[in-house]
Amino acid sequence: MKLLQLNKYYTTVYIRPIAYKDSNEESANLLYPENALLIYSLPMGEISEKKAISVCVSSWTRVMQNMIPPMTKATACYLSSALATTEALENGFDEAIFLTINENVSEGPGENIFIIRNGVLVTPPVTDDILEGITRDTIMRIAREELGINTVIRSIPRPELYLAEEAFFTGTAVEIQPITEIDRIKIGNGEIGPITKKLEQLYFETVQGNNPRYSSYNTPVY
Ligand SMILES: Cc1ncc(COP(=O)(O)O)c(C=O)c1O
Repeated sequence: MKLLQLNKYYTTVYIRPIAYKDSNEESANLLYPENALLIYSLPMGEISEKKAISVCVSSWTRVMQNMIPPMTKATACYLSSALATTEALENGFDEAIFLTINENVSEGPGENIFIIRNGVLVTPPVTDDILEGITRDTIMRIAREELGINTVIRSIPRPELYLAEEAFFTGTAVEIQPITEIDRIKIGNGEIGPITKKLEQLYFETVQGNNPRYSSYNTPVY
């Protein structure tokens, strides 16, 4: 809050806190008592409807629970994310989708993924090496409470991506990011789907403090 006030922001701002071990010792371990915190902020401009993106399934595999716990937002995971996004961009896509070692859909390099099948939202479980994002949680709640749409949390095999009626990423930075093409295959009719559009609108209302039902998501800065 203080960081936002000091920077006199009156726009959407991405806030990134990084907690780290602050030690001059040589050995890499987590036992050092010195903890430190760095927070930086990045103005994002006004919230606006997102353009659809085209994504690919990455040749890079999502880190596993027993490597670097993907449930934590560990900075070390982001080398793997950067490799996947770089590969996607170099191949003419906008972003990547990671599979798990068992070839189930996991998530994006910095986003959770949802697909819609038969009018129901589906998103991978924590056992498929996802970070349990707060936006994922918010969307599941809004979909249930505002649209009466339940989310099924289950593994998604890769081919099911291509059969989805709609697909989108969620994340603090991307908010709701519609996906209309995966591996050059059109999702649904290749346009942003009606449920994705509705959820995006409801999400904006929520984070901008325009829906009193979700006022607990908002903290006044000034
Ligand atoms: C790997 C990964 N998955 C998912 C997310 C989405 O999480 P949240 O909605 O909490 O921002 C992020 C956000 O940074 C992420 O880095």
